[in-house]
Amino acid sequence: MRRIQIFDTTLRDGEQSPGCSMNIKEKIDMARQLEALGVDVIEAGFAAASQGDFNAVRAVAKELQKTRVASLSRALAKDIDNSWEAIRYAKYPRIHVFIATSDIHMEYKLKKTREEVLEQTGEMVRYAKKLCEDVEFSAEDATRSDPAFLARVCETALEAGATVLNIPDTVGYTTPEEIASLICYLKEHVKGIHMAQIATHCHDDLGMAVANSLAAIKAGADQVECTVNGIGERAGNAALEEIVMNLKTRADYYDADCGIDSTQIYKTSRLLSSITGVKVQPNKAIIGENAFAHESGIHQHGVLANKATYEIMSPESIGLSKNKMVLGKHSGRHAFNERVHDLGFNVDLDISNTLFKNFKDLADKKKTVSDRDIEALVRSILVSEIPKTYELQRYVINSGNTITPTSNIALTSGGGEVTEKVAKGFGPVDASFNAINKIVGKQIRLEEYAIDAVTEGRDAQGEVSVKITCDGAIAKGYGLSTDVIEASILAYINAINNLIYENAREEQ
Ligand code: KIV
Ligand code: ZN
Repeated sequence: MRRIQIFDTTLRDGEQSPGCSMNIKEKIDMARQLEALGVDVIEAGFAAASQGDFNAVRAVAKELQKTRVASLSRALAKDIDNSWEAIRYAKYPRIHVFIATSDIHMEYKLKKTREEVLEQTGEMVRYAKKLCEDVEFSAEDATRSDPAFLARVCETALEAGATVLNIPDTVGYTTPEEIASLICYLKEHVKGIHMAQIATHCHDDLGMAVANSLAAIKAGADQVECTVNGIGERAGNAALEEIVMNLKTRADYYDADCGIDSTQIYKTSRLLSSITGVKVQPNKAIIGENAFAHESGIHQHGVLANKATYEIMSPESIGLSKNKMVLGKHSGRHAFNERVHDLGFNVDLDISNTLFKNFKDLADKKKTVSDRDIEALVRSILVSEIPKTYELQRYVINSGNTITPTSNIALTSGGGEVTEKVAKGFGPVDASFNAINKIVGKQIRLEEYAIDAVTEGRDAQGEVSVKITCDGAIAKGYGLSTDVIEASILAYINAINNLIYENAREEQ
């Protein structure tokens, strides 16, 4: 059986998708879980993109012991230098260099001729190779490139020392047959291609990313690039969990396997949703809530008689356990801590004490506490780990259908000083955000606001996530409360604290 390398780009291409940005701590938590999942390579970011990205790539590189860590770079010396500085302390570092090879990208984006692109490829792969033994080269928009020219670029990259040749379907345009024949063509026309690994990196604009990745594997690709839950630019990247479960479930067809521990899939998927606040659709293959639910009577009857009638893989194979203990107010600390760990969170002792207390408070209000509740509790504690420049003291809202909503907010700032302001708004949430803006004294814009009930029922906790911008910087915030106005205020304050914290880190 062939061994396919799984290259995870959740922290780079995945993070580029709207609402999916992560701070350093979140990236490290995610990277640890990806290592436990068994991915071969983690693309930790694009070090030259910003100081924040650089710091995150370096932190992940220093953290991981088993997994290769890559940083993306345009084919430019300054990007490659940045990548190397960020990953040089990794146990297994890789520099990933890319340049576009399609006529449309070369003419309108790069404003370069084919010959210039060829020259830059050779020069920059050679440059990267002097710094790092492992160099991946990607021909951006490969599937819309002239195959003969693409072959010349690949050969140039190989001669310059590339160890991996990546053939991306950057805009999600190709079909399984086309990408398979492109890979066969390159295998025939690129001298020395057997010396390198062939990779693919498919986007999902036409919903074909996983099918195209699998067709590329069948045609000879040794590495697939993918993201957890399929997050990524526009419609996303090929979903890791779908590729892996295809390889495992249809090993008879693909005659290939990978090093992934599939029982870690569910936990990894939940951790990502939990960190980003971006939920998975219920009917999503493998990890959607309904992926293993049998609703119709005929199906239920079949499954009861023999699971294989309607189940081609077991829920246990992705780490879903049917026999989980229900947690409630009588549950002990041990069972609770174990569940937190099973959900993918590594929390310190002091956090774990506060968490357990919050769990008991919630269990007093609700009969059973679901995994979703626990994830929400952990999230609310983890967000409060960053320094609280501002903290909510109290708020009073005056609202109704015949008056203009007014909010009176008092916040404590760093030195313990309390500032109180009143503002009006279109609704109680808007009024509250306006009052907070007055206290902070900055032009903060609310870009995204989402509210969700953690579970069903009138006793459900309300979970609010916001995205704000201020002077070009972006930050996310998160708030949890059984009162949705309070959850909104907490989320907004948390976003402001995150913004201040990230700005301070960038300046360091
Ligand atoms: O989609 C793409 O082409 C990429 C490359 C930079 C690998 O993300
Ligand atoms: Zn991509």
